[in-house]
Amino acid sequence: MTQDELKQAVARAAIDYVVDGEIIGVGTGSTANFFIDELGKIKDRIKGAVASSEATATRLRGHGIHVYDLNDVASISVYVDGADEIDAAGAMIKGGGAALTREKIVASVSGKFVCIADGSKLVQVLGKFPLPVEVVPMAGQAVMRKLTQLGGKPALRIKDGEPVVTDNGGHILDVAGLSITDPAGLESQINQIPGVITVGLFAQRGADVCLLGTSEGVKTLT
Ligand code: 5RP
Repeated sequence: MTQDELKQAVARAAIDYVVDGEIIGVGTGSTANFFIDELGKIKDRIKGAVASSEATATRLRGHGIHVYDLNDVASISVYVDGADEIDAAGAMIKGGGAALTREKIVASVSGKFVCIADGSKLVQVLGKFPLPVEVVPMAGQAVMRKLTQLGGKPALRIKDGEPVVTDNGGHILDVAGLSITDPAGLESQINQIPGVITVGLFAQRGADVCLLGTSEGVKTLT
């Protein structure tokens, strides 16, 4: 199976977690996009969705799914999203698609986080994938110095010769060279650096369920 077929398989499997008549939280990225396409097929069963990015909102609307502002929603029962890396405890690195801040916000108000990923995303120790950190642009260099003191090698994310600007007006630092043996502890440490908007470690609120696409089928990790 190709990586896309594995992503499609977990996206289909995640539909089992959708609660009829409710508003669902939806993540960002290529795996989440496959999930949105599956959601489109059962859109009459749900009330609508809260999106974790402008790109996701646009794709949801394209399927005729109503997108709610989070301010108008008190709670969400299920949030479905991909990950760049996930460990056996459900701690994740996210933010490869620069949507980490809204992803963390929507996940934080959701009862259950269902992570959908192809098997290559499961790791023993997080950190091979450079850790994304969203920052206030004026604080970029200051935050980079602090991240270097923590043992990382941060780099400003650039696209088409310009810094990537997130949906929130932030910049993204990608921190290489970390072997993250205490994800929740490092999440706290980085959160405390002035200028950090969000760190792409999702450990304090990790995934409750991970649907992992493998050549033997979809495996469920809880
Ligand atoms: C976006 C994310 C994505 O969930 C993560 O990058 C995985 O993306 P993909 O499903 O395309 O591999 O965190 O900010």
